[in-house]
Amino acid sequence: MILRALLLSTCLASAAPVSFQREVAPLLQRRCATCHSAENPKGRYQLETFARLMKAGQSELPPVTPGKPVQSELAALLRESSAQDRMPQKAEALPEVEIALIERWIAEGARFDGASKDQPLVELVRDSMLRPAPAKYARPLPITALAFSPDGTRLAVSGYYEVTIWNVSDGSLVTRLGGLPERITSLAWHGSRLAAAGGSPVQWGTVALADVAGLAPVKFLCDLPETTLGVAFSADGARIAAGCGDRTVRLFDGATGASRRVLKLHADWVQGVAFSADGSHLLTASRDRTARVVDLKSDEVTTSYTGHETPLVAAAFALDGQAWTLARGGAMHRWDAGRATRNGELKGADWAAFRAGATGLVTTASDHKLRFFAGNERTPKTTWEAAGDVVQTLAISADGKRCASGAADGTVAVFALPDGKPVRSWVAAPR
Ligand code: HEC
Repeated sequence: MILRALLLSTCLASAAPVSFQREVAPLLQRRCATCHSAENPKGRYQLETFARLMKAGQSELPPVTPGKPVQSELAALLRESSAQDRMPQKAEALPEVEIALIERWIAEGARFDGASKDQPLVELVRDSMLRPAPAKYARPLPITALAFSPDGTRLAVSGYYEVTIWNVSDGSLVTRLGGLPERITSLAWHGSRLAAAGGSPVQWGTVALADVAGLAPVKFLCDLPETTLGVAFSADGARIAAGCGDRTVRLFDGATGASRRVLKLHADWVQGVAFSADGSHLLTASRDRTARVVDLKSDEVTTSYTGHETPLVAAAFALDGQAWTLARGGAMHRWDAGRATRNGELKGADWAAFRAGATGLVTTASDHKLRFFAGNERTPKTTWEAAGDVVQTLAISADGKRCASGAADGTVAVFALPDGKPVRSWVAAPR
Protein backbone atom coordinates (compact mmCIF):
# COMPACT_ATOMS: atom_id res chain seq x y z
CA MET A 1 0.00 0.00 0.00
CA ILE A 2 2.77 2.39 1.01
CA LEU A 3 4.81 1.29 -2.00
CA ARG A 4 1.88 1.91 -4.29
CA ALA A 5 1.36 5.36 -2.78
CA LEU A 6 5.03 6.13 -3.34
CA LEU A 7 4.98 4.92 -6.93
CA LEU A 8 1.83 6.89 -7.56
CA SER A 9 3.30 10.06 -6.11
CA THR A 10 6.48 9.59 -8.17
CA CYS A 11 4.41 9.11 -11.33
CA LEU A 12 2.25 12.12 -10.58
CA ALA A 13 5.29 14.18 -9.68
CA SER A 14 7.12 13.33 -12.89
CA ALA A 15 4.38 15.07 -14.85
CA ALA A 16 5.44 18.52 -13.64
CA PRO A 17 8.96 19.91 -13.21
CA VAL A 18 10.33 19.80 -9.66
CA SER A 19 9.70 23.01 -7.76
CA PHE A 20 12.67 24.35 -5.81
CA GLN A 21 10.46 26.36 -3.49
CA ARG A 22 7.86 23.71 -2.72
CA GLU A 23 9.91 20.52 -2.89
CA VAL A 24 13.68 21.05 -2.75
CA ALA A 25 13.95 23.96 -0.30
CA PRO A 26 11.90 22.26 2.47
CA LEU A 27 14.00 19.13 2.06
CA LEU A 28 17.32 20.99 2.30
CA GLN A 29 16.00 23.09 5.14
CA ARG A 30 14.93 20.01 7.10
CA ARG A 31 17.95 17.78 6.44
CA CYS A 32 20.90 20.08 5.90
CA ALA A 33 20.36 23.60 7.28
CA THR A 34 21.59 23.01 10.84
CA CYS A 35 25.17 22.27 9.68
CA HIS A 36 25.33 24.76 6.82
CA SER A 37 24.08 27.96 8.43
CA ALA A 38 25.67 31.34 7.69
CA GLU A 39 26.87 31.50 11.28
CA ASN A 40 28.75 28.22 11.34
CA PRO A 41 28.91 26.60 7.89
CA LYS A 42 30.48 23.13 7.96
CA GLY A 43 32.90 22.66 5.06
CA ARG A 44 32.53 26.43 4.53
CA TYR A 45 29.37 25.62 2.59
CA GLN A 46 26.23 27.67 3.19
CA LEU A 47 22.67 26.67 2.43
CA GLU A 48 20.95 29.78 3.74
CA THR A 49 19.74 31.09 0.41
CA PHE A 50 19.51 29.79 -3.14
CA ALA A 51 22.32 32.16 -4.19
CA ARG A 52 24.60 30.76 -1.48
CA LEU A 53 23.92 27.11 -2.02
CA MET A 54 24.99 27.48 -5.66
CA LYS A 55 28.46 28.59 -4.47
CA ALA A 56 31.16 26.02 -3.66
CA GLY A 57 32.50 25.45 -0.17
CA GLN A 58 36.03 24.43 0.80
CA SER A 59 36.25 21.71 -1.88
CA GLU A 60 35.75 24.37 -4.58
CA LEU A 61 33.72 21.80 -6.55
CA PRO A 62 30.48 23.19 -8.01
CA PRO A 63 27.67 22.05 -5.69
CA VAL A 64 25.08 22.30 -8.46
CA THR A 65 25.78 22.16 -12.20
CA PRO A 66 22.43 22.82 -13.91
CA GLY A 67 21.42 19.91 -16.15
CA LYS A 68 24.19 17.66 -14.82
CA PRO A 69 23.47 15.85 -11.54
CA VAL A 70 26.63 13.75 -11.94
CA GLN A 71 28.79 16.88 -11.96
CA SER A 72 27.04 18.32 -8.95
CA GLU A 73 28.86 17.84 -5.65
CA LEU A 74 25.66 18.34 -3.65
CA ALA A 75 23.94 15.44 -5.41
CA ALA A 76 27.08 13.27 -5.47
CA LEU A 77 27.49 13.58 -1.71
CA LEU A 78 23.97 12.23 -1.19
CA ARG A 79 24.97 8.95 -2.84
CA GLU A 80 28.48 8.79 -1.38
CA SER A 81 29.15 5.21 -0.20
CA SER A 82 31.39 6.16 2.72
CA ALA A 83 29.10 7.15 5.59
CA GLN A 84 31.80 9.56 6.77
CA ASP A 85 31.64 11.69 3.62
CA ARG A 86 27.96 11.25 2.78
CA MET A 87 25.46 14.08 3.37
CA PRO A 88 23.67 14.55 5.67
CA GLN A 89 26.70 13.81 7.76
CA LYS A 90 26.35 11.55 10.79
CA ALA A 91 22.92 10.36 9.67
CA GLU A 92 21.20 7.80 7.47
CA ALA A 93 21.37 8.48 3.76
CA LEU A 94 18.32 10.31 2.43
CA PRO A 95 15.53 8.03 1.15
CA GLU A 96 15.81 7.21 -2.55
CA VAL A 97 12.74 9.33 -3.43
CA GLU A 98 14.35 12.41 -1.91
CA ILE A 99 17.70 11.88 -3.63
CA ALA A 100 15.88 11.26 -6.92
CA LEU A 101 13.91 14.47 -6.45
CA ILE A 102 17.09 16.54 -6.05
CA GLU A 103 18.74 14.83 -9.02
CA ARG A 104 15.70 15.46 -11.18
CA TRP A 105 15.59 19.11 -10.14
CA ILE A 106 19.24 19.48 -11.21
CA ALA A 107 18.66 17.49 -14.44
CA GLU A 108 15.76 19.81 -15.28
CA GLY A 109 18.08 22.82 -15.06
CA ALA A 110 18.16 23.56 -11.29
CA ARG A 111 15.59 26.30 -11.79
CA PHE A 112 14.72 28.79 -9.09
CA ASP A 113 10.98 29.46 -8.80
CA GLY A 114 10.88 31.69 -5.70
CA ALA A 115 10.71 35.48 -5.44
CA SER A 116 14.38 36.23 -4.76
CA LYS A 117 17.54 34.14 -4.84
CA ASP A 118 18.76 36.00 -1.76
CA GLN A 119 15.66 35.22 0.26
CA PRO A 120 16.44 32.83 3.14
CA LEU A 121 15.26 29.28 2.44
CA VAL A 122 13.27 29.35 5.69
CA GLU A 123 11.10 32.11 4.21
CA LEU A 124 10.63 30.22 0.97
CA VAL A 125 9.70 27.23 3.06
CA ARG A 126 7.03 29.19 4.94
CA ASP A 127 4.71 29.10 1.96
CA SER A 128 5.07 25.36 1.70
CA MET A 129 4.37 24.98 5.44
CA LEU A 130 0.99 26.72 5.46
CA ARG A 131 -2.20 24.85 4.61
CA PRO A 132 -5.88 25.64 4.87
CA ALA A 133 -7.41 24.55 8.19
CA PRO A 134 -9.81 21.61 7.86
CA ALA A 135 -13.47 22.64 7.38
CA LYS A 136 -14.39 20.22 10.18
CA TYR A 137 -12.21 18.35 12.63
CA ALA A 138 -12.48 14.55 12.35
CA ARG A 139 -11.52 14.42 16.03
CA PRO A 140 -10.65 17.12 18.55
CA LEU A 141 -7.05 18.27 18.76
CA PRO A 142 -5.17 18.46 22.08
CA ILE A 143 -5.36 22.05 23.33
CA THR A 144 -1.85 23.51 23.63
CA ALA A 145 -2.52 27.24 23.99
CA LEU A 146 -5.25 29.57 25.26
CA ALA A 147 -5.70 33.32 25.68
CA PHE A 148 -8.62 35.43 26.90
CA SER A 149 -9.66 38.54 25.02
CA PRO A 150 -8.76 41.70 26.99
CA ASP A 151 -12.42 42.08 28.10
CA GLY A 152 -12.63 38.42 29.09
CA THR A 153 -15.67 37.63 26.92
CA ARG A 154 -13.87 35.50 24.33
CA LEU A 155 -11.25 32.78 24.38
CA ALA A 156 -8.63 32.11 21.69
CA VAL A 157 -7.83 28.40 21.36
CA SER A 158 -5.02 26.64 19.48
CA GLY A 159 -6.21 24.75 16.40
CA TYR A 160 -4.78 23.01 13.36
CA TYR A 161 -3.29 25.67 11.04
CA GLU A 162 -5.56 28.15 12.82
CA VAL A 163 -6.73 29.70 16.05
CA THR A 164 -10.41 29.41 16.92
CA ILE A 165 -12.18 32.14 18.91
CA TRP A 166 -15.08 31.18 21.21
CA ASN A 167 -17.70 33.00 23.29
CA VAL A 168 -17.08 32.34 26.96
CA SER A 169 -20.76 32.90 27.83
CA ASP A 170 -22.22 30.10 25.69
CA GLY A 171 -19.24 28.18 24.25
CA SER A 172 -20.18 29.15 20.68
CA LEU A 173 -17.61 29.57 17.92
CA VAL A 174 -17.18 33.25 17.04
CA THR A 175 -14.58 33.04 14.29
CA ARG A 176 -11.64 31.12 12.90
CA LEU A 177 -8.30 32.79 12.19
CA GLY A 178 -6.63 30.73 9.49
CA GLY A 179 -3.34 31.01 7.63
CA LEU A 180 -1.44 30.15 10.81
CA PRO A 181 1.18 27.48 11.57
CA GLU A 182 0.32 23.80 11.88
CA ARG A 183 0.87 23.77 15.64
CA ILE A 184 0.27 26.67 17.99
CA THR A 185 2.38 26.50 21.15
CA SER A 186 1.47 29.77 22.84
CA LEU A 187 -0.99 32.67 22.45
CA ALA A 188 -1.08 36.27 23.70
CA TRP A 189 -3.90 38.75 23.10
CA HIS A 190 -3.64 42.54 23.30
CA GLY A 191 -6.30 44.92 21.97
CA SER A 192 -7.34 43.50 18.62
CA ARG A 193 -3.97 41.77 18.07
CA LEU A 194 -3.35 38.12 18.70
CA ALA A 195 0.22 36.83 18.73
CA ALA A 196 0.67 33.12 18.08
CA ALA A 197 3.90 31.17 18.55
CA GLY A 198 4.25 27.89 16.72
CA GLY A 199 5.37 26.10 13.59
CA SER A 200 6.11 22.61 12.38
CA PRO A 201 8.68 20.88 14.61
CA VAL A 202 12.22 20.64 13.13
CA GLN A 203 11.10 22.40 9.96
CA TRP A 204 9.86 25.90 10.56
CA GLY A 205 8.83 28.22 13.34
CA THR A 206 7.35 31.69 13.52
CA VAL A 207 5.53 34.26 15.58
CA ALA A 208 2.36 35.17 13.72
CA LEU A 209 0.53 38.41 14.46
CA ALA A 210 -3.15 38.25 13.55
CA ASP A 211 -5.87 40.88 13.58
CA VAL A 212 -8.73 39.32 15.53
CA ALA A 213 -11.30 41.21 13.47
CA GLY A 214 -9.78 39.59 10.39
CA LEU A 215 -9.33 42.98 8.70
CA ALA A 216 -5.54 42.86 8.26
CA PRO A 217 -3.61 39.90 6.87
CA VAL A 218 -1.52 37.73 9.21
CA LYS A 219 2.06 38.99 9.63
CA PHE A 220 4.91 36.58 10.18
CA LEU A 221 7.43 38.24 12.45
CA CYS A 222 10.25 35.74 11.87
CA ASP A 223 11.04 32.50 10.06
CA LEU A 224 13.14 30.02 12.00
CA PRO A 225 14.29 26.46 11.34
CA GLU A 226 12.57 25.28 14.55
CA THR A 227 9.22 26.05 16.15
CA THR A 228 8.75 28.93 18.59
CA LEU A 229 7.49 28.02 22.06
CA GLY A 230 6.35 30.97 24.13
CA VAL A 231 4.99 34.42 23.36
CA ALA A 232 3.99 37.40 25.51
CA PHE A 233 2.89 41.03 25.13
CA SER A 234 4.21 43.67 27.52
CA ALA A 235 1.37 45.12 29.62
CA ASP A 236 1.18 48.27 27.47
CA GLY A 237 1.21 46.22 24.25
CA ALA A 238 4.28 48.06 22.96
CA ARG A 239 6.41 44.94 22.78
CA ILE A 240 6.17 41.24 21.98
CA ALA A 241 8.70 38.71 23.28
CA ALA A 242 9.09 35.18 21.97
CA GLY A 243 11.01 32.15 23.23
CA CYS A 244 12.32 30.12 20.32
CA GLY A 245 13.48 26.63 19.41
CA ASP A 246 16.65 28.08 17.86
CA ARG A 247 17.65 29.05 21.45
CA THR A 248 17.02 32.74 20.92
CA VAL A 249 14.69 35.19 22.60
CA ARG A 250 13.21 37.63 20.11
CA LEU A 251 11.69 41.02 20.72
CA PHE A 252 9.29 42.72 18.31
CA ASP A 253 7.40 45.99 18.15
CA GLY A 254 3.97 45.18 19.55
CA ALA A 255 2.09 47.35 17.05
CA THR A 256 3.94 46.83 13.77
CA GLY A 257 5.58 43.48 14.49
CA ALA A 258 8.97 44.82 13.34
CA SER A 259 11.92 42.88 14.70
CA ARG A 260 13.71 44.76 17.48
CA ARG A 261 16.25 42.38 18.99
CA VAL A 262 17.53 38.83 18.97
CA LEU A 263 18.94 37.83 22.36
CA LYS A 264 21.16 34.79 22.74
CA LEU A 265 20.86 33.90 26.39
CA HIS A 266 20.34 30.16 26.43
CA ALA A 267 21.94 26.90 25.32
CA ASP A 268 18.66 25.18 24.45
CA TRP A 269 15.01 25.87 23.55
CA VAL A 270 13.49 28.87 25.27
CA GLN A 271 10.13 27.57 26.51
CA GLY A 272 8.67 30.53 28.35
CA VAL A 273 8.91 34.34 28.39
CA ALA A 274 7.25 36.90 30.66
CA PHE A 275 7.48 40.69 30.99
CA SER A 276 7.64 42.34 34.40
CA ALA A 277 4.55 44.42 35.22
CA ASP A 278 6.31 47.69 34.26
CA GLY A 279 7.84 46.17 31.11
CA SER A 280 11.39 46.94 32.22
CA HIS A 281 12.52 43.32 32.56
CA LEU A 282 12.01 40.03 30.75
CA LEU A 283 12.03 36.62 32.41
CA THR A 284 13.00 33.61 30.27
CA ALA A 285 12.88 29.86 30.97
CA SER A 286 14.84 27.31 28.96
CA ARG A 287 15.26 23.61 28.45
CA ASP A 288 18.91 24.30 29.42
CA ARG A 289 17.60 24.24 33.06
CA THR A 290 18.18 27.92 33.66
CA ALA A 291 16.04 31.02 33.88
CA ARG A 292 17.26 34.55 33.23
CA VAL A 293 16.11 38.04 34.01
CA VAL A 294 17.08 40.58 31.36
CA ASP A 295 17.09 44.35 31.77
CA LEU A 296 15.45 45.50 28.54
CA LYS A 297 17.14 48.90 28.60
CA SER A 298 20.66 47.50 28.44
CA ASP A 299 19.92 43.92 27.24
CA GLU A 300 22.08 42.80 30.18
CA VAL A 301 21.25 39.62 32.03
CA THR A 302 20.76 40.84 35.60
CA THR A 303 19.98 37.46 37.15
CA SER A 304 20.54 33.80 36.24
CA TYR A 305 18.64 31.19 38.21
CA THR A 306 20.14 27.68 38.19
CA GLY A 307 18.21 26.08 41.06
CA HIS A 308 16.30 23.54 38.93
CA GLU A 309 17.56 20.07 38.05
CA THR A 310 15.40 19.45 34.99
CA PRO A 311 14.49 21.48 31.87
CA LEU A 312 12.29 24.49 32.56
CA VAL A 313 8.85 24.65 31.01
CA ALA A 314 7.39 27.96 32.20
CA ALA A 315 8.14 31.18 34.06
CA ALA A 316 6.20 34.18 35.32
CA PHE A 317 6.59 37.15 37.61
CA ALA A 318 4.57 37.03 40.82
CA LEU A 319 2.52 40.04 41.94
CA ASP A 320 5.34 41.14 44.26
CA GLY A 321 7.89 41.06 41.41
CA GLN A 322 9.48 37.77 42.44
CA ALA A 323 9.91 35.01 39.89
CA TRP A 324 8.12 31.68 39.56
CA THR A 325 9.61 28.90 37.46
CA LEU A 326 8.30 25.43 36.70
CA ALA A 327 10.56 22.54 35.69
CA ARG A 328 9.74 19.25 34.01
CA GLY A 329 8.87 16.67 36.65
CA GLY A 330 6.78 19.15 38.59
CA ALA A 331 9.10 21.30 40.73
CA MET A 332 7.99 24.92 41.07
CA HIS A 333 10.37 27.47 42.56
CA ARG A 334 9.91 31.00 43.72
CA TRP A 335 13.00 33.16 43.72
CA ASP A 336 14.20 36.69 44.11
CA ALA A 337 14.31 38.13 40.58
CA GLY A 338 17.02 40.56 41.68
CA ARG A 339 19.37 38.12 43.39
CA ALA A 340 18.47 34.64 42.09
CA THR A 341 18.08 33.26 45.60
CA ARG A 342 15.35 30.72 46.07
CA ASN A 343 12.89 31.73 48.75
CA GLY A 344 10.16 29.21 48.33
CA GLU A 345 8.74 26.23 46.58
CA LEU A 346 5.17 25.34 45.69
CA LYS A 347 4.60 21.98 47.34
CA GLY A 348 1.75 19.50 47.43
CA ALA A 349 1.64 18.14 43.86
CA ASP A 350 3.64 17.53 40.69
CA TRP A 351 2.86 20.70 38.82
CA ALA A 352 2.28 20.44 35.08
CA ALA A 353 1.49 24.03 34.10
CA PHE A 354 0.68 27.36 35.73
CA ARG A 355 -0.44 30.87 34.93
CA ALA A 356 0.06 34.06 36.91
CA GLY A 357 -2.64 36.74 36.79
CA ALA A 358 -3.84 39.94 38.44
CA THR A 359 -5.26 38.15 41.49
CA GLY A 360 -2.87 35.23 41.91
CA LEU A 361 -1.75 31.96 40.42
CA VAL A 362 -3.60 29.02 38.83
CA THR A 363 -1.92 25.63 38.56
CA THR A 364 -2.65 22.23 37.11
CA ALA A 365 -0.99 19.06 38.38
CA SER A 366 -0.70 15.34 37.75
CA ASP A 367 -3.53 14.76 40.27
CA HIS A 368 -6.03 16.28 37.76
CA LYS A 369 -6.84 19.15 40.08
CA LEU A 370 -6.74 22.87 39.45
CA ARG A 371 -5.74 25.17 42.28
CA PHE A 372 -5.94 28.90 42.83
CA PHE A 373 -3.29 30.61 45.00
CA ALA A 374 -4.50 34.09 45.95
CA GLY A 375 -2.01 36.97 45.83
CA ASN A 376 1.43 35.71 46.81
CA GLU A 377 0.12 32.83 48.95
CA ARG A 378 1.75 29.42 48.82
CA THR A 379 -1.19 27.38 50.07
CA PRO A 380 -4.14 27.08 47.72
CA LYS A 381 -7.24 29.11 48.45
CA THR A 382 -9.31 26.73 46.31
CA THR A 383 -8.77 23.27 44.82
CA TRP A 384 -11.15 21.73 42.30
CA GLU A 385 -11.44 18.91 39.78
CA ALA A 386 -10.17 19.70 36.24
CA ALA A 387 -12.39 19.19 33.15
CA GLY A 388 -11.55 16.76 30.31
CA ASP A 389 -8.47 14.55 30.43
CA VAL A 390 -4.90 15.79 31.00
CA VAL A 391 -4.82 19.59 31.23
CA GLN A 392 -1.94 20.97 29.20
CA THR A 393 -2.44 24.70 29.28
CA LEU A 394 -4.11 27.47 31.29
CA ALA A 395 -5.12 31.10 30.89
CA ILE A 396 -6.32 33.85 33.24
CA SER A 397 -8.50 36.79 32.17
CA ALA A 398 -7.03 40.28 32.53
CA ASP A 399 -9.29 41.14 35.50
CA GLY A 400 -8.25 37.91 37.24
CA LYS A 401 -11.87 36.78 37.64
CA ARG A 402 -11.82 33.84 35.20
CA CYS A 403 -9.43 31.06 34.36
CA ALA A 404 -9.52 28.60 31.48
CA SER A 405 -7.99 25.16 31.00
CA GLY A 406 -7.27 23.23 27.81
CA ALA A 407 -7.02 19.44 27.82
CA ALA A 408 -5.49 16.78 25.59
CA ASP A 409 -8.95 15.55 24.53
CA GLY A 410 -9.89 19.00 23.18
CA THR A 411 -11.94 20.07 26.22
CA VAL A 412 -11.81 23.74 27.10
CA ALA A 413 -13.27 24.80 30.46
CA VAL A 414 -13.78 28.20 32.05
CA PHE A 415 -13.97 28.62 35.85
CA ALA A 416 -14.69 31.60 38.10
CA LEU A 417 -11.94 32.79 40.42
CA PRO A 418 -11.29 32.60 43.30
CA ASP A 419 -13.91 29.87 43.97
CA GLY A 420 -13.20 27.57 40.97
CA LYS A 421 -16.91 27.37 40.12
CA PRO A 422 -17.42 25.95 36.59
CA VAL A 423 -18.70 28.61 34.18
CA ARG A 424 -18.79 26.55 30.99
CA SER A 425 -16.94 23.78 29.19
CA TRP A 426 -16.97 22.61 25.58
CA VAL A 427 -14.94 20.70 23.02
CA ALA A 428 -13.08 23.34 21.00
CA ALA A 429 -13.16 21.72 17.58
CA PRO A 430 -15.14 23.13 14.64
CA ARG A 431 -17.69 20.45 13.66
C1 HEC B 1 25.72 16.95 10.85
C2 HEC B 1 26.20 18.02 10.04
C3 HEC B 1 25.89 18.03 8.55
C4 HEC B 1 24.68 17.87 7.94
C5 HEC B 1 23.34 17.57 8.58
C6 HEC B 1 24.93 18.07 6.53
N1 HEC B 1 26.24 18.35 6.31
FE1 HEC B 1 27.10 18.82 4.52
N2 HEC B 1 28.89 18.97 5.39
C7 HEC B 1 29.14 18.75 6.72
C8 HEC B 1 30.59 18.81 6.95
C9 HEC B 1 31.29 18.62 8.27
C10 HEC B 1 31.16 19.07 5.68
C11 HEC B 1 32.62 19.19 5.36
C12 HEC B 1 33.04 17.92 4.73
C13 HEC B 1 34.26 17.34 5.39
O1 HEC B 1 35.15 18.10 5.74
O2 HEC B 1 34.28 16.11 5.54
C14 HEC B 1 30.08 19.17 4.73
C15 HEC B 1 30.25 19.43 3.38
C16 HEC B 1 29.22 19.54 2.47
C17 HEC B 1 29.39 19.89 1.08
C18 HEC B 1 30.70 20.15 0.40
C19 HEC B 1 31.06 21.60 0.48
C20 HEC B 1 32.42 21.86 -0.12
O3 HEC B 1 32.47 22.50 -1.15
O4 HEC B 1 33.39 21.40 0.48
C21 HEC B 1 28.17 19.91 0.52
C22 HEC B 1 27.81 20.24 -0.94
C23 HEC B 1 27.24 19.55 1.54
N3 HEC B 1 27.89 19.35 2.73
C24 HEC B 1 25.86 19.42 1.35
C25 HEC B 1 25.00 18.96 2.33
C26 HEC B 1 23.63 18.63 2.06
C27 HEC B 1 22.95 18.77 0.71
C28 HEC B 1 23.09 18.21 3.23
C29 HEC B 1 21.69 17.70 3.49
C30 HEC B 1 21.25 16.61 2.67
C31 HEC B 1 24.13 18.30 4.24
N4 HEC B 1 25.28 18.74 3.65
C32 HEC B 1 23.94 18.00 5.57
C33 HEC B 1 28.22 18.56 7.73
C34 HEC B 1 26.87 18.33 7.51
